[in-house]
Amino acid sequence: MSIFNHEKRKPHYGDLQGKILLKGVPPSYPIDYTELLQRAEKVLPPSVLNYIESGSGDGRTQHRNVQAFSEWGIVPRMLVDCTNRDLSVELFGYTQPNPLFMSPIGANAFCTSDGHGDIAAAKASAISGVPFVASTLANDPMETVIQHCGDVPAWFQLYVPRSRELAESFIQRAEQSGYRALVITLDMWVHGWRPCDIRAGHFPDQEDVWLQNYFSDPVFRDSLSHTPEENVTLAVKAFRRLFGEALTWDHVAWLREVTKLPIVLKGICHGEDARRAADMGVDAIYCSNHGGRQANSGIAAIDMLPEVVEGAGDTPVLFDSGIRSGADILTAIAMGATAVGIGRPYSYGLAVDGASGAAHVLRCLLAEADLIMAVNGYPSLADLRNAGARRVS
Ligand code: FNR
Repeated sequence: MSIFNHEKRKPHYGDLQGKILLKGVPPSYPIDYTELLQRAEKVLPPSVLNYIESGSGDGRTQHRNVQAFSEWGIVPRMLVDCTNRDLSVELFGYTQPNPLFMSPIGANAFCTSDGHGDIAAAKASAISGVPFVASTLANDPMETVIQHCGDVPAWFQLYVPRSRELAESFIQRAEQSGYRALVITLDMWVHGWRPCDIRAGHFPDQEDVWLQNYFSDPVFRDSLSHTPEENVTLAVKAFRRLFGEALTWDHVAWLREVTKLPIVLKGICHGEDARRAADMGVDAIYCSNHGGRQANSGIAAIDMLPEVVEGAGDTPVLFDSGIRSGADILTAIAMGATAVGIGRPYSYGLAVDGASGAAHVLRCLLAEADLIMAVNGYPSLADLRNAGARRVS
């Protein structure tokens, strides 16, 4: 009989560290965010880097999103058996093995040299087990993208267009192709003030590259005098006219009627908005300030999370904006988030090495989170949530 008690121990995300160290050579991929950004800066075309990296106004909200995490901490507890950790969460009626998701990023297309970054992101989801939220703005139609997600559930993010017929067509396509939730982004019906893009003289969305969900849509195509293949300029103009419905609470009631998919409202940062959304029966509330890209409001998203969680009551709260490490993930969960979205870090992972690069970023984040739980005496996310986060400054 072995003197080691191995039976008790299951595989864990944190095992990644041991696997890298066992090889005895420095890894070829970046390990933390600083290194990741430096590597992405070397490979991304300046215009793409500028678009992803920048925020609105002077960037204070974007920076504050990240900085604010250093003002919160997790209190270590000792003598708790954490041989096995449970990072799983229940969402939309199924269990996922980790509390992450890949936030919708409309610039994925530009992050890989083949221009098919949405497919690469979907593959990263399949490799890492982290659900992918496919953006409306994509270089491959949603039906193609989801085929690369493997067994991992994917969600579709909708920028609601100014035509209900077109919106319903997108929603129907998302349902039929197997997306498991519908994320409605509330804070992008108009572009925020983005000096970096203005200085560059363009938004990438002035190009046709990421409009494939539009160009493949039967309702959109029927509305054109020429197909996008015949006259792309006209198609882009039609997109610009249609993009960005100014949403109100009435739209939420309409969305509830037109789909059976779980509805997630993205961009909620106020407790009363969260309460109202929960009262209207949405399935999750997504606390986010779009990574500080839309309004330079000056308040970090994480500082709004407690009131959103309180307002949401029993409705799950998703969170993103400023997550750069495993410690940040756990802080958001300790503050009441059910699941946490990774944004810019996985885009930079895509830039470094496509699907493998993005999957590596997600795995490192999970490994760090898992090991913090192990060392700090939290065997499950529920234990962490019960303990809460502590303000350190
Ligand atoms: C975004 N975000 C975004 N959100 C959304 O609902 N639909 C989209 O298409 C996009 N596109 C997009 C492009 C780029 C380049 C960025 C950086 C972000 C916002 C995204 O989902 C998420 O809220 C932020 O990325 C979170 O902030 P951090 O953590 O990336 O700083």
